[in-house]
Amino acid sequence: MASVEIQNVQKHYGSFHALNDINLSVEEGEFVVMVGPSGCGKSTLLKTIAGLETVTSGQLLIKGRDVTRLEPGDRGIAMVFQSYALYPHMTVAENMGFGLRMAGRPKTQIDAAVARAAKILRLEEQLDKKPKQMSGGQRQRVAIGRAITRSPDVFLFDEPLSNLDAALRTQMRVELSTLHAELGSTMIYVTHDQVEAMTMASRIVVLNRGRIEQVGTPLDLYSNPANLFVAGFLGAPRMNFVTGKVVEAQGRSARIVCAGGLGVALDDLVQPAAIGEAVTIGIRPEKLRINDAGSAIAFGGQVRLTEYLGRETILYVDAGDLVTTGSDSGTGAFTAQIGEIRPFQTAAPVSIAFDARDAYLFAADGRTISSPKPVARL
Ligand SMILES: Nc1ncnc2c1ncn2[C@@H]1O[C@H](COP(=O)(O)OP(=O)(O)OP(=O)(O)O)[C@@H](O)[C@H]1O
Ligand SMILES: [Mg+2]
Repeated sequence: MASVEIQNVQKHYGSFHALNDINLSVEEGEFVVMVGPSGCGKSTLLKTIAGLETVTSGQLLIKGRDVTRLEPGDRGIAMVFQSYALYPHMTVAENMGFGLRMAGRPKTQIDAAVARAAKILRLEEQLDKKPKQMSGGQRQRVAIGRAITRSPDVFLFDEPLSNLDAALRTQMRVELSTLHAELGSTMIYVTHDQVEAMTMASRIVVLNRGRIEQVGTPLDLYSNPANLFVAGFLGAPRMNFVTGKVVEAQGRSARIVCAGGLGVALDDLVQPAAIGEAVTIGIRPEKLRINDAGSAIAFGGQVRLTEYLGRETILYVDAGDLVTTGSDSGTGAFTAQIGEIRPFQTAAPVSIAFDARDAYLFAADGRTISSPKPVARL
C-alpha cells in the first residue's frame, strides 16, 4: 500500500492555478524530494498533504485512508518548516512534547517520547535549555524532535535547512539521512539545494508552474531528463544549451548546425527529426574540454572568467555568435567544469571541445529526443 497517494490534485487561488493535476504515489519508507523554481507550488503541495490548505479538487490518501477532508491533526503527518517555529518560553523538552500534550497524552508517555527523540537527535544534554540558548542547527533538531515525538506516518519537510550555514547544512543533511534510515519513515522533503536533492532522495519530483515535469531517481533524472526544463534544472553548474537547426535528417540520425557554423551529428534519436526543425543541443559543463582535437566537436572562444574551486576549475567562455541560452552566467557564456586546477588568463583564446555522444538534443517543444549513450548503471 502506498504511504501517500496524491490523485488528480488541483489547487486554485481564484483564477491562479497553483497546482495542476498532480498525481504521485509515495511508497512506504521512501524519501521523496521535491524541487522546482520559486513559486512553482512546492510549499502549496506540501501544505495540501498536511491539510494546512484545502484542495480545489482531487484526493489525498495516507496509508490507504482518504484524508482529503480531514483536519491536519487527524492525518498522521508531522511537518517541519524552514523557520523552526519553536515556542521561545518553553524548554526544549516542552517544545518537543507540545504536540502530545495538546493531544492530552499521559505524562509518562510524553516523557518517554521526548527522551527517545532526544536520544536519536543527540539533544539529551539540552532538554532544559530555551531555544534562544541554542544554535540554529540545534533549534532545527528540536523542531525535528517535535515531529518525531508524534510518531507520524509521514514527515513533511519544507526547506528545513535553508536557514543554516553551509557547514551546518552538510552536517544536518547527513543527520537527516541517518534519521530516515533509522526510523524507516516516509519523508517528503522540499529543497532548493541540488546537493540535498541528489544525495538524500530515493526519488526526486521536479515541479514547474504547478505541474510535475518528471519523477525518478536522482541519477535517472540527471542522466535522462525528459525535457529541457528538467535538464536545465538539475545540475550545478547548469547544462549549456545551444539552439540550432536540423540541416540533414535520415531515419533516426540528424545533423544540426548552430550559430557560428558549429555542426553536430547525432544518431539514435527517439523520434525522427525534420529538416529545418529548430532544436536545442545540451551539453553538461563537465563534458566540455579544453584544447582537445581529434574526433571531438570543437569551437573557439575567449575566457571571460575563471573560478577556482580547489579540486576543479569553472571556466566561463564567450564564443561569439555561439551563445548558450539560460546559462549560469546569464549572458550567453559557456560553462566548462574542468576537474583540475589550471590557470587561465581572462580574455585569452581557448578551444573548447566535446563529444557528440555526450550531447542531448531537445525538440522545439522541449522534449528530449536524444540523450548521451548510457554508461554502466549502479
Ligand atoms: N494563499 C495564496 N493566495 C494566492 N496565491 C498563493 C497563495 N499561496 C501561494 N500562492 C501562489 O502559489 C504559487 C506557489 O506558491 P508556493 O509557496 O507553493 O511556491 P514554492 O514552490 O514553495 O516557492 P518557494 O521556492 O519560493 O518557496 C505562487 O505563485 C504563490 O504566489
Ligand atoms: Mg516554498
